[in-house]
Amino acid sequence: MSNKIIIAIDGTSSTGKSTLAKRLAKRLKYLYIDSGAMYRALTFYAIEKNYISKSHFNKTELIKDLPNISIDFQYNIENNKYEVHLNNNSVEKYIRSLKVSDLVSEIATVDELRKEMVKVQHFLGSNKGVIMDGRDIGTVVFPNAELKFYLDASIELRANRRYKELVEANYEISFDDVLSNISLRDKQDINRKNSPLKKASDSIVILTDNFTLDQLEEKLLSYINPLISKK
Ligand code: DC
Repeated sequence: MSNKIIIAIDGTSSTGKSTLAKRLAKRLKYLYIDSGAMYRALTFYAIEKNYISKSHFNKTELIKDLPNISIDFQYNIENNKYEVHLNNNSVEKYIRSLKVSDLVSEIATVDELRKEMVKVQHFLGSNKGVIMDGRDIGTVVFPNAELKFYLDASIELRANRRYKELVEANYEISFDDVLSNISLRDKQDINRKNSPLKKASDSIVILTDNFTLDQLEEKLLSYINPLISKK
């Protein structure tokens, strides 16, 4: 019998979900799926096609164009990573910009778009052995996931972390812009009608402020390991 499970990690922006999920996936030899990257890739497409900007959103045209959009993950042998692909091209290096971050939560409100993303996510999780992070993984995408974590941290810590990451990746950006983007995205993600960010009733809530990444990794493993060995 397979001992592979599905691990859902949800939470507010920049709590370290993806860093932790990547580390855990490596340790467990699981597939890591960054569901936020899918919404970001979709947003990148919508910006390129001029369906969305700060002043307009042509939702109907974007929905009509959905059959022409394919979003998936492909393995990059050069850096040993799964990268999000938009119509077969890696868009990893474009999707973390503030331009995309500023519009992604708006894109993520649209039910028709979410349904398509969830289809892909279900397919990716069909063989289990997956760690997926996002906002609705434990509540909507995999409500029967064997293990669900909900991560949160103070806004200052999250903004600091994101700011450092972006500066390291050579984005020209101010701390205040990062802070306001995170705070606005939290509000939009929590208050939207479709699949809002919320704690699943059976999730394990972890506040990450006072822990190092190593400590957090061990903490999550202390829940994961007994479950995997029990199966
Ligand atoms: O994880 P992230 O910050 O890269 O996600 C970007 C945005 O995508 C986030 O603000 C909300 C949206 N998102 C979502 O609605 N549902 C998910 N499962 C993952 C992300």
